Amino acid sequence: MNEKTLKIGFIGAGAIHFGRPEVPWDHASRLEKIGGLEVIGIVDPDTCRSEKVLNERLASLDHEHMYANCRLLTDYKELLGMKPDVAFIGIPPAHRGSPIEGKNVELEFVQAGIHVFVEKPLSIVPPEEFFAYAYSVSETCRINNVVLSVGYMFRYHAAVLKMKELIQNHGGKVMAFNARYYFAYTQETNKQWFNTDFFGGPIVEQATHFCDLARYIVGDIDMTSLHTIMLNDSDKGGAGKLNNLVSQAEDDIPSNKRIPRVTLSHWRFQDGGLGTLMHSVTLPGSRYQATIDVQLDGLQLSLIDPYESTSVLRVRNLKGGNPNQDQDFVFENDDTYLNELDTFIKAVRQRNQSLIKSSYEDAMKTYELTWAIRRQGEVKI
Ligand SMILES: NC(=O)c1ccc[n+]([C@@H]2O[C@H](COP(=O)([O-])OP(=O)(O)OC[C@H]3O[C@@H](n4cnc5c(N)ncnc54)[C@H](O)[C@@H]3O)[C@@H](O)[C@H]2O)c1
Repeated sequence: MNEKTLKIGFIGAGAIHFGRPEVPWDHASRLEKIGGLEVIGIVDPDTCRSEKVLNERLASLDHEHMYANCRLLTDYKELLGMKPDVAFIGIPPAHRGSPIEGKNVELEFVQAGIHVFVEKPLSIVPPEEFFAYAYSVSETCRINNVVLSVGYMFRYHAAVLKMKELIQNHGGKVMAFNARYYFAYTQETNKQWFNTDFFGGPIVEQATHFCDLARYIVGDIDMTSLHTIMLNDSDKGGAGKLNNLVSQAEDDIPSNKRIPRVTLSHWRFQDGGLGTLMHSVTLPGSRYQATIDVQLDGLQLSLIDPYESTSVLRVRNLKGGNPNQDQDFVFENDDTYLNELDTFIKAVRQRNQSLIKSSYEDAMKTYELTWAIRRQGEVKI
């Protein structure tokens, strides 16, 4: 059956949409694999950047046809006027996710009946000021029968799905969840990440993926139980000094806006189990390190390096086999970004929001959690 070619537009010509060396993300290359799409516009006020990415795409013999009629735009309202079927919103959260006119990007698209894929974090506005806006976005999607997905790609990772399956088969409740996410910071990086005003800091911006997995794998958190401590640049003993930053990344950022170097948080899940999260900005190079351990009575699951092209799920299980032995499930080349976008495009074609694992409404809860972790730590400076 011949499917209709969907007209899509990108808002943001940055790394999430078009990649950069050393990072695994690049939505355009996944959408090229999926096919059946025509890119009608790329919006970015930085026209050097949008021109460069478009020229690179046009130079590819395999995918040039997808961009043949693509226009370079500087304001998302121009794209809105072109009525694409789908808009990909991948700009820093300081420029979207807000009721302020000109930053209410996702709301304007869903109001126009256009399907939306929007990146995490949802916003940088404090949750209590963001709630009403988030509700209007969700409600408008429902009323207009528009599909919206938030970029929590790990929900589509084969190893995460396997974890959920093993937990279900084992039975019982999760007793302990422990996520460690270590940011490698000494090579090429995005300078704006180092300023909490632009991305909301490392928990709201980065560790949000692991807060989201805590909720996805275990369930919601009893927010009253949450406790956080942070190591900051301003630490009296000097333990928070970063001596290997590239491109003077922090020189023009006041100390109180610099991101925490270590964040350690713990909480109780509503189901009773305990959770911990540790984020640090310490590793050399550009390779992040991430591990999640989940423990139930008689079962341990360790997800190792889900960002890498090969990741491992290490299982130690009382049921079946040797209880002292680990069993490794190796996931080679499981492209979680491709799984996520493929599901999104299918959901759009079927107008079926239920296929989406991360709705705006659900992502709002992860957003609240990341803010609670951040605020708990900040008050103790
Ligand atoms: N899911 C993931 O794994 C993942 C990975 C990377 C980034 N992200 C998210 O994607 C978003 C963008 O990050 P990035 O790394 O691509 O940033 P980036 O700095 O590489 O690019 C952002 C681009 O947006 C443009 N821009 C800013 N305001 C704009 C506006 N109003 N209209 C159009 N363009 C505008 C900038 O000029 C810039 O070119 C962030 O929310 C980030 O958290 C998600």
